[in-house]
Amino acid sequence: MRPHYPVMLNEILKILQKNKKKIIVDCTFGCGGYSNKILEFFPQNKIIAIDRDIEVKKFAKELEKKYFKRFFFINDKFSNLEKIVNNYQDEIGFYIFDFGISSFQLDNYSRGFSFNSEDKLDMRMGNNSISAYEILNEAPFQDLSSIIKIFGEDNDHKKIANEIVNSRKIKTIHSTKDFRNLIIKAKGNRYYKKDPCTKTFQAIRMIVNQELSEIFNALKFALDFSKAGTGLVAVTFHSLEDKIVKKIFNITKDSLQNPSRYLPQINSKKNESSFLEKINLKPITPSKEEIATNYRSRSAKMRSVLKQGNGKLHIERKMLNMERFFFLEEKYNI
Ligand SMILES: C[S@@+](CC[C@H](N)C(=O)[O-])C[C@H]1O[C@@H](n2cnc3c(N)ncnc32)[C@H](O)[C@@H]1O
Repeated sequence: MRPHYPVMLNEILKILQKNKKKIIVDCTFGCGGYSNKILEFFPQNKIIAIDRDIEVKKFAKELEKKYFKRFFFINDKFSNLEKIVNNYQDEIGFYIFDFGISSFQLDNYSRGFSFNSEDKLDMRMGNNSISAYEILNEAPFQDLSSIIKIFGEDNDHKKIANEIVNSRKIKTIHSTKDFRNLIIKAKGNRYYKKDPCTKTFQAIRMIVNQELSEIFNALKFALDFSKAGTGLVAVTFHSLEDKIVKKIFNITKDSLQNPSRYLPQINSKKNESSFLEKINLKPITPSKEEIATNYRSRSAKMRSVLKQGNGKLHIERKMLNMERFFFLEEKYNI
């Protein structure tokens, strides 16, 4: 199995030089690539690391031994940040997010993420009950079509949903290989620059793991409740993840003072000292050298902000104009 190659690690370390507080929260621990280097480079800091996948605990155990009393691992979803970090808010200097799945998860065929596995379809990152198997074998045509259309941005969404529904009448859709064959059949023999299954696989994975709601809830909590000077770095891998991060990081003082026409006006005096300052004006992307070593990094974008002021930012879902995504995720949050 390939090791997970931490994306834009040097750039993360550079941003963390701005950190003035004790604790860094690594919200997506994975194989510990970031945590390990951060503990080595910043000996005065401690890390609280979070991952929903219990299988990464073995990597966490190594760091617990290596960095005794400086590293603490919590197996949970980052949308539960409030419960995890609430007693430490004053000491948190940075939250780091590196979204998506790790090579460790992708390359482990029994997790059912990979295209060509004969193992049962799964795609659960951890701490969730409904899997891709249930969604593909039970969701109605209209939902499958909408999921593939809006999460996968695939124009063949109706054809693919149709193929899924017809095929499961005869035999359950068992493996990722079965699913892949259905997509290819629905799309016909056309030439594709990228693998024609990538987007549909991603769409189903996102619904299974409620990925956009997870991101929204975690960013909202981290930014609303953090103290002045706390930073947030987010590495995204596709346009929908980046859209949420970008929209939230771009929220201006004006939109904060009047977050939604559905809500009462916020007392501007209370709010006026809190806003987000960008650490880098434009997103950072991996160098050519990094892409040559780690092809999976090619679509990564890193954005980072520092919170100014101690006030709550009152970030609202409506500000993002992405309700249809959240609605579908919630429907399958069973
Ligand atoms: C791209 S990997 C992180 C790799 C890590 N930065 C490293 O250097 O090894 C993403 C990790 O985030 C975890 N993850 C994804 N969504 C999560 C969520 N909502 N809550 C907690 N962990 C999550 C995944 O299980 C995966 O292990």
